[in-house]
Amino acid sequence: MMPEAGWDRLWTGVQLATMADRSLGVIRDGAIASAGGRIAWMGKEADLSPRQRTSAAEVIPCGGAWMTPGFIDCHTHIVFGGDRSGDFRRRLHGQSYADIARAGGGIMSTVRATRRASSEELTRRAAARGRELAGWGVTTIEVKSGYGLDLETELRMLDVAAALPRHIPSGTSPTLLAAHAIPPEYAGRRGDYLRLILEEILPAALQQGHATAIDAFCEDIAFTPAEARAILEAGIAAGLHGRLHADQLSDLDGGALAAATGARSADHLEYLSGDGVRAMAAAGVCAVLLPGAAYTLRVEHSPPVQALRRAGVTMAVATDANPGSSPITNVGMILNLACIRFGLTPEEALLGFTSAAASVLGLEDDRGTLEPGKRADLALWGVEDPLQLCYWMGSSPLRSLIKDGVPWEPADRRLGALGTTRRPSTHSPEKTARGPE
Ligand code: NIG
Ligand code: FE
Repeated sequence: MMPEAGWDRLWTGVQLATMADRSLGVIRDGAIASAGGRIAWMGKEADLSPRQRTSAAEVIPCGGAWMTPGFIDCHTHIVFGGDRSGDFRRRLHGQSYADIARAGGGIMSTVRATRRASSEELTRRAAARGRELAGWGVTTIEVKSGYGLDLETELRMLDVAAALPRHIPSGTSPTLLAAHAIPPEYAGRRGDYLRLILEEILPAALQQGHATAIDAFCEDIAFTPAEARAILEAGIAAGLHGRLHADQLSDLDGGALAAATGARSADHLEYLSGDGVRAMAAAGVCAVLLPGAAYTLRVEHSPPVQALRRAGVTMAVATDANPGSSPITNVGMILNLACIRFGLTPEEALLGFTSAAASVLGLEDDRGTLEPGKRADLALWGVEDPLQLCYWMGSSPLRSLIKDGVPWEPADRRLGALGTTRRPSTHSPEKTARGPE
């Protein structure tokens, strides 16, 4: 425990949901202190000595509000150009996600728009999406590449992702997803694109130093299990965390593939088999559940949540925010869908956005729970019970976001207005970036 003389801030009158030990870990009538961006002390407010209280440089009374660790969105694609509302209309008229992709729409249309966009434009629009997430308590965002599919644009996307924290009150964790689709210039030459990834894009991304993970989309419309395996094995051997878009639209044994390669997570999993669950449990692979994509694409299957739970697989939940399959930055909606659509308990859904998500990103020793020594990434909520975050489908009840011990009020320019409601136009350049996309 750090000496109280060094406390920068002390929040009092707070109900803590620590998310430690795979439970809400509630401490009522609590207090929490930060020093040097870390949690220095936490516990019952009654256990604070008068000397501790007066030694904090700033005391922030919270009037009984609930505090959780800052949310961690461990699967997003928020850096992209263009708009996919045309795909939305086509799906409403009965075309499937796969049909649209095969006709050159879907991911490829976003690739065309992303290649055309300048880094400044990608940053401006990704920052707007990041602020929407921050307005829902998110202090860490995983951000994938995968809409460049060439050396220059993949590296540019990773660069934009790594620089986003200059514009938003959240940290980012960039992931290389060059294996998201076969680009049109490689049609009929998949082997050549695979070689481009392995021999040029991956080595250049390692040299660039932003990516902390490698990911691949394993599906009929994307990469085969053998191709995805080659990509993951190369990235993991080079020291990156492995991730896999697995068993989303069909069962290709993606869960077992993630386990065999030593990946940290398999994501989506609507078609995960019983063997896949067992393989993931044995290898300690986390499941990342993305109910926004299942909802948007009307995927009728759901991940085998009961089997995952019984097998003791860590279940994270994320927005999958992207222009095609999950155009959602509303974390409350995702938590609600995780419960209603996938059958998670509210506690599991909240753990999925905190401690489980930290494990997926390999950050479990640094954040994801309220514990002394962890990063002081905190979200203060105007709710009577933390379960309201899953249950009430309104605007964001966030009162304050604390990143590395520094508070941001919802009115702060860098946070923007709360929630995802459109704001009236303003003169601020960041704010005008939020028009329809
Ligand atoms: O996670 N499944 C593949 N990738 C994204 C979708 C990307 C897109 O449609 O633009 C996903 O759902
Ligand atoms: Fe995804």
